[in-house]
Amino acid sequence: MKSLTNKRILLGVSGSISAYKAPDIVRRLQDLGADVRVILTAGGSKFITELSLQSISRNKVHHNLWDKEAELSMGHIELAKWADCILIAPASANVISSIASGKASDLLNNVILASNAALIIAPAMNQQMYNSSALQANLALLKSRNVNIITPDSGTQACGDIGPGRLPESSDIAEQVATQFQTTQLSGKRIIITLGATLEAIDPVRFISNHSSGKMGMALVDTCIEMGAQVTCVYGNISIPLNDKATNIQTLSAQQMYECVLSQVHQCDLFIACAAVCDYSAKDPSDQKIKKNGENLILELIPNKDILADVCKLEKKPLCIGFAAETQNTLKNAQLKLKNKGCEAIILNDVSKTEIGFNSDENQVIFISQKQQENIAKNSKTKIAKNILEIFIKEFL
Ligand SMILES: Cc1cc2nc3c(=O)[nH]c(=O)nc-3n(C[C@H](O)[C@H](O)[C@H](O)COP(=O)(O)O)c2cc1C
Repeated sequence: MKSLTNKRILLGVSGSISAYKAPDIVRRLQDLGADVRVILTAGGSKFITELSLQSISRNKVHHNLWDKEAELSMGHIELAKWADCILIAPASANVISSIASGKASDLLNNVILASNAALIIAPAMNQQMYNSSALQANLALLKSRNVNIITPDSGTQACGDIGPGRLPESSDIAEQVATQFQTTQLSGKRIIITLGATLEAIDPVRFISNHSSGKMGMALVDTCIEMGAQVTCVYGNISIPLNDKATNIQTLSAQQMYECVLSQVHQCDLFIACAAVCDYSAKDPSDQKIKKNGENLILELIPNKDILADVCKLEKKPLCIGFAAETQNTLKNAQLKLKNKGCEAIILNDVSKTEIGFNSDENQVIFISQKQQENIAKNSKTKIAKNILEIFIKEFL
């Protein structure tokens, strides 16, 4: 079964009689794991209520470009950036015509123009309207601009006509949206991704660790799988679900993660070191719980092995991407890391900013290689993962 896990789908519902099916489309998208927000056009609101769509999507329904509150934070731009994909289902002839002509007269059209997300439309209308030369010319134009058009079903229509123009089953629409995310850019590639935090035992109950949740690494796992790769996910302490399409191996300490990666890495084409591996571990972890005695406790720490550096030193090393979580001199430190480790790219993560980085659902990074330095603007970790991989694929694959 296809998946839309962690995908943000913006559903545009426009003025077709079949808009009554929109809540079911929301449901089917949610069944595949998507988070769905809805924009209801003026025409759409004549056929289905905002309340139904709000109740099913569990999100506020957007319909007004002139919403003062939403536009305090430039709501239409926020929605445009939020979406991984914009689906218009049903897409009325009127909406199709305004998209084709690049109109910005209502909220939906503005969001479409302001977004770089994939656009999918499901035309639904009377067969004569569907076959009209104007509509067909608009669809051909949109197709030439890489808009994905879902072919309508043929059959008896609401008006009694028989022919093409019926909205396909909601589950088929949801599946076609999921297909949009499946690409073949990493087809046949074997990738190891480390993620999460390592735990360094002090005694049987205490450990040294860090705040990494594993979200950025998991977004990379999901995206690599969508791009057709075979992924081994080597994870430490994480607070998110695993992707069951990956081979998942749990390792808790830095030493365990090191041994696991080094035993697997000879079989891989790309190694992505996204785990927050502790630099130090306790020299002599106690077998028993350390009791407090009112005295200061001195803990001797020893450096852990550097997984990325050692992978990069292998004679037959895979392509390597490292992450640099920095709090000061961020750019300089990341550039130094790129040079010292010998990897192809470093992703700089400024973890001093609390609204991004550790544990957050969003991130903002800089892709650094010998050839280029590219800022990836603040966005969901899913989108950041996609951007990182696209830049990497362009330069190295
Ligand atoms: C009862 C009724 C049913 C309609 N069904 C459709 C339809 O299935 N497809 C379509 O493209 N337009 C249909 N229309 C026309 C659109 O609703 C009209 O073009 C409207 O302006 C579209 O609004 P929108 O721009 O918000 O989509 C219908 C109109 C009425 C009155």
